[in-house]
Amino acid sequence: MSSPNIRQVAITNVQFGEDVTVVEPANLYGCTLADNVFVGPFVEIQKGVGIGARTRVQSHAFICELVTVGTDCFIGHGVMFINDPFIKGGPARGDKTCWRPTHVGNYVSIGSNATILPVKICDGVVIGAGAVVTRDINEPGVYAGNPARKIRNLA
Ligand SMILES: CC(C)(COP(=O)(O)OP(=O)(O)OC[C@H]1O[C@@H](n2cnc3c(N)ncnc32)[C@H](O)[C@@H]1OP(=O)(O)O)[C@@H](O)C(=O)NCCC(=O)NCCS
Repeated sequence: MSSPNIRQVAITNVQFGEDVTVVEPANLYGCTLADNVFVGPFVEIQKGVGIGARTRVQSHAFICELVTVGTDCFIGHGVMFINDPFIKGGPARGDKTCWRPTHVGNYVSIGSNATILPVKICDGVVIGAGAVVTRDINEPGVYAGNPARKIRNLA
């Protein structure tokens, strides 16, 4: 019988601001969490990710390399970010030249189970539960659906 290669969930090489809360288990490595960030359980935040002050990342979210999130954001339960858009017709299999970044502005709320492909999202956006964001969002407002479309302005 061969031995599997088992890696543990860990919180390593993370830069923490003041008053950060992390609920374990969480797999956080090489990322930066600014002041007053909250991270719920079963979250993965990968290398190079920056999370702005007062942002909440709810349980089961996945925030991959090349993602930045601004201040005062809400990343709902199970939100999935994507950095490999399969530009060559399949997974990049470690070829990071095929990866693409995502930048989330400030005061952005992302509903549960939304999927965010590599895009820019401006300040002041609400994204509905289960949305699939495939294009940049350059205008504040409420967006929902697959593909996500603007459904109304913010009050
Ligand atoms: C997107 C959202 C903010 C819109 O709320 P709202 O402005 O009150 O919208 P309404 O409920 O009036 O719905 C307006 C229309 O959008 C549709 N809609 C609303 N939310 C939707 C969603 N997530 N995906 C697809 N369509 C949605 C409605 O069916 C409705 O369509 P209709 O006009 O054809 O009937 C809200 O529905 C939502 O998804 N919130 C996320 C909550 C969440 O995930 N919280 C996490 C912590 S628990």
